[in-house]
Amino acid sequence: FRVPKAVNEPIYQYEPGSTAREKLQDTLKALRSKQVHVPLYIGSEEIETADKRPMSPPHDHQHILGHYSYGTGEHVKKAIDSALEARKKWSKMAWQDRAAIFLKAADLISGPYRYEMNAGTMLAQSKNCFQSEIDAVCELADFLRFNVEFMTEIYEKQPISAPGTWNRLEYRPLEGFVFAITPFNFTAIAGNLPMSAVLMGNVCVWKPAESQMYSANQVMRIFKEAGLPDGVINMVVADGPEVGDIVFKHPEFSGLHFTGSTAVFKHLWKEIGNNIDIYKQYPRIVGETGGKDFVFAHHTAKPAQVATGLARGAFEFQGQKCSAASRAYIPDNIWPEVKEELVKQVNSFKVGPTEDFGNFVNAVIDKRAFDKIASYIDFVKDSKDAEIIAGGNYDDSKGYFIEPTVVVAKDPKFRTMCEEIFGPVLTIYVYPKDEWKETVKILNDTSEYALTGAIFSQDRYVLSELTDLLEQNAGNFYLNDKPTGAVVGQQPFGGARGSGTNDKAGFYLNLLRWTSVRTLKETF
Ligand code: NAD
Ligand code: ALA
Repeated sequence: FRVPKAVNEPIYQYEPGSTAREKLQDTLKALRSKQVHVPLYIGSEEIETADKRPMSPPHDHQHILGHYSYGTGEHVKKAIDSALEARKKWSKMAWQDRAAIFLKAADLISGPYRYEMNAGTMLAQSKNCFQSEIDAVCELADFLRFNVEFMTEIYEKQPISAPGTWNRLEYRPLEGFVFAITPFNFTAIAGNLPMSAVLMGNVCVWKPAESQMYSANQVMRIFKEAGLPDGVINMVVADGPEVGDIVFKHPEFSGLHFTGSTAVFKHLWKEIGNNIDIYKQYPRIVGETGGKDFVFAHHTAKPAQVATGLARGAFEFQGQKCSAASRAYIPDNIWPEVKEELVKQVNSFKVGPTEDFGNFVNAVIDKRAFDKIASYIDFVKDSKDAEIIAGGNYDDSKGYFIEPTVVVAKDPKFRTMCEEIFGPVLTIYVYPKDEWKETVKILNDTSEYALTGAIFSQDRYVLSELTDLLEQNAGNFYLNDKPTGAVVGQQPFGGARGSGTNDKAGFYLNLLRWTSVRTLKETF
């Protein structure tokens, strides 16, 4: 069960004047100057349909990166048939062969395709070069390598045997096929969701988000180049509800691997429930969903540390991380210092296209997101119960740009303290420092989600008490650090309550969901 020891892929820093920066800039130019056509990948076919939809950088309406083919229900049915056909050989293949494909894919991502992967996500999802490097290169390669290692650890786990017998476990794939649905905001998640299921011997139908088709195509091409056999992962994009309807009415549907919003996940769960009698087995349902992630500072916290945690945690990738800090509770004794430093940092963030590496904040993903976030900002502007202390402007004339916006609310139950906005809007409630326990109670009572959270204090008793008081409130909990930036293998990621089934992506717990174990007892 020995595989190369997984280590985290080092993050390139792209310093000014460095060769890496030059190469990335050249790659950006090269990708901008060519048109990509993304087909549907079904079995051995790459299908171009008549319904072709444009892919444009969220920060540059004038530019077209290419088109993706939009499929129909018939394509979805074909994708399921192809997956089930491929299952006959794939499910019997030695785990070493499955592992080799994804280890090779990781090396392709971190080696020859590194700059293309980074540039693709910079252009198509409007991530700055550092966020894109972390996502589309390092986290994606880490998912592939660590999953392989965790798979072998699972396979090694075997029961004891009484004298004269031999007990053993067979880690079989599920019967049927797995359905993977991925969100726009992480290219790494696009790779991880189908991959983790097929690594365990399953076959998959994968529906990426429409706004990530460019990067999804890059992932799919690399998997194929690394040797993934036809039909093991079938990538189709079509009308979400129509795809869901066909997949969930199929008797061989065996599992859903989903990342996206809470509302969509709940809807899909209900559909699966409604069809439960037609399935051969109880489907595995794994979902990582929304968040309303918090920062709680105690009066013993270091103001500068809190301010940096807020600025980075709230505004990296325009706040479009499920883990992003979007509400904060700051005591009045340190608020003046936190405010000064936070506003200074936020005002120093330049907003603009990703091709200018000096821009920290880029565009939000699409018009729907832009309109939703802008309506929250307008709501704050119209309210007497909150004020904007930084940002607050938006402009979609050239791209979907929204300034990083800091709101101070008078009421800890103010709307933007409770609802997921999924954009660059942070709301802060300043509380009387001696009322920290009452404030924690309000935080707990307004937590529909429980994804990430961060607490700041220099007092170990307080950290311990806060960790305890907020026990149910986050799947990923940070002490004196921002609530974003989990690293595969270091902080297994996932949330509870409305934030998901908490199966910890990129960890052995997630892989266990994609296997159906047979126990064998042999008597000698
Ligand atoms: P979304 O829910 O709008 O879409 C997610 C995916 O579901 C997309 O591929 C979409 O096309 C598909 N979809 C929508 N309706 C469908 C249906 N009826 N049937 C089948 N598929 C359907 O989410 P999004 O805007 O892409 O991503 C943002 C959301 O994802 C946020 O809520 C964020 O918190 C969450 N997210 C969570 C995590 C996590 O680890 N918890 C990570 C990333 C994103
Ligand atoms: N893994 C991502 C983070 O922790 C979602 O920010």
